[in-house]
Amino acid sequence: MNVATAQGNILEHDADIVIVNLFDGVTTPSGATGAVDRALDGQISNLIAAGDFEGKLNETLYLYANGGLSARRVLLVGLGKQEEFTLDRARQAAGKAARTARDLGAKRAASIVHGAGIGGLSPVDAACAAAEGTVLGLYRYERYKSDKDKKVLDSVTFVEADDEKFSAVSQGVSDGIAIGGAQNFVRDLATTPGSDLPPAALAEAASSMAQEFGLQCTILGPEEIAAENMNVILGVSRGSAQPCRFIVLDYTPDEATDQTIALVGKGITFDTGGLNLKPGDSMRHMECDMAGGASVIGAMRLVGHFRPNVRVIGLVPASENMPGGNAFKPGDVLRAANGKTIEIDNTDAEGRLVLADALCYAQRYNPSAIIDIATLTGAVIVALGQHAGGLMTNHAGLAARVKDAGEVTGERVWELPLWPEYEEQVKSPVADVKNTGGRAAGSITGAALLKLFVDDKPWVHLDVAGVDYTDLDRPYIPKGSSGFGARLLFQVVRDWEDGLD
Ligand code: BES
Ligand code: MN
Ligand code: ZN
Repeated sequence: MNVATAQGNILEHDADIVIVNLFDGVTTPSGATGAVDRALDGQISNLIAAGDFEGKLNETLYLYANGGLSARRVLLVGLGKQEEFTLDRARQAAGKAARTARDLGAKRAASIVHGAGIGGLSPVDAACAAAEGTVLGLYRYERYKSDKDKKVLDSVTFVEADDEKFSAVSQGVSDGIAIGGAQNFVRDLATTPGSDLPPAALAEAASSMAQEFGLQCTILGPEEIAAENMNVILGVSRGSAQPCRFIVLDYTPDEATDQTIALVGKGITFDTGGLNLKPGDSMRHMECDMAGGASVIGAMRLVGHFRPNVRVIGLVPASENMPGGNAFKPGDVLRAANGKTIEIDNTDAEGRLVLADALCYAQRYNPSAIIDIATLTGAVIVALGQHAGGLMTNHAGLAARVKDAGEVTGERVWELPLWPEYEEQVKSPVADVKNTGGRAAGSITGAALLKLFVDDKPWVHLDVAGVDYTDLDRPYIPKGSSGFGARLLFQVVRDWEDGLD
């Protein structure tokens, strides 16, 4: 599928279907939608007057052009109320329109950019959002299907007549293709069945991505992980026949900078729960338990593409959590790379374990900020559902940056408190900390353990167990693995300036 730009008049553009838009409450369309309306002898105005099309967000309706323009069909997409319009709504409308055009059997669509004029977005931002929504909305995972879906949209071309706006639109569309492509790469990784993406394969994927996008990549195997004293990762992987990996991605900009951001993602390629075996239903999508790690790899791909002026390190501890004969056991005590000991109360709380060693490893870069991202707890699904990731932090300034990035990208996060009182719940009678904290505040006690391994550096923990996989079918997030996090993390990097206050 090809997303492109063209300069010219959309009325004359050679395509199967032309996509234009309408805000809720507008009675006489203006701009390109107005031009199409006139070319169709006022059919769009008639539909509005009759109440057949209101412009509600993501509402669609198609009509035949009957020779009024080069394309045979016109697809209208609603943008909702003008004063409620956002970048995310631009993404949604583009995703919805592209999918509808595909369902209609169109091969080549031409579209205007949504919301750059009266929507109040800059042309570059609006075009970027439109391209993202298109690339993300059309995503399908067909690797294991013999009969691929026959309905394929070959191209979506964003057409802009204005000379000055055209270069901004081209830039935005090209950025949006890169950003959407990175998120789809994350989706592919997270969707791949557990047996086809063990730790070594995840590391291989990271390493070939690094080659392609100009990043340094180092992969540590079990011996090297042992040499780094990352015994907790080794402990988690002991029950598995698949050797663990520790993935290090390094982007150092050409220009000197004293700013380093460390991104750390949970890379459990399959989580059975270990000896504390999960029941069948709960295990069903545990191939996605490396979604946090995949989103770090996806964010690093964007870092490689856009090459910002800040050093960025991506770390992914990759392991299976299996109940093999050599598996670690409840009651075991593991010693992390910084010397702290962890009592294993439940082998199913393995994400915080592999992250603990990875957070220790991050310290060698003297990071200005650390952000970890993980499908850590079922409790965060109970708290926030599928519409926001949980955020926990030791630094309000860094948290504010991540929240802002969440608003821009539509990958929203919501803060849960991390008061010292919660640390009581993870005190252990035999070790420095214990890996569970009981039913109460299950997401927060996970973060309370991680906090012991960040050395008081500015740190944000993102619990994405509720948002990484979705059974909702949203305009640009089809059912399945969402790829949440790559855009969010990259946005933080992109907006990074001279450090935190
Ligand atoms: N990978 C799971 C969390 C999860 C649950 C992700 C549902 C996606 C959907 C994690 O490793 C886990 O098992 N957490 C336990 C922790 C508990 C034992 C303290 C949980 O949430 O039940
Ligand atoms: Mn688990
Ligand atoms: Zn897990």
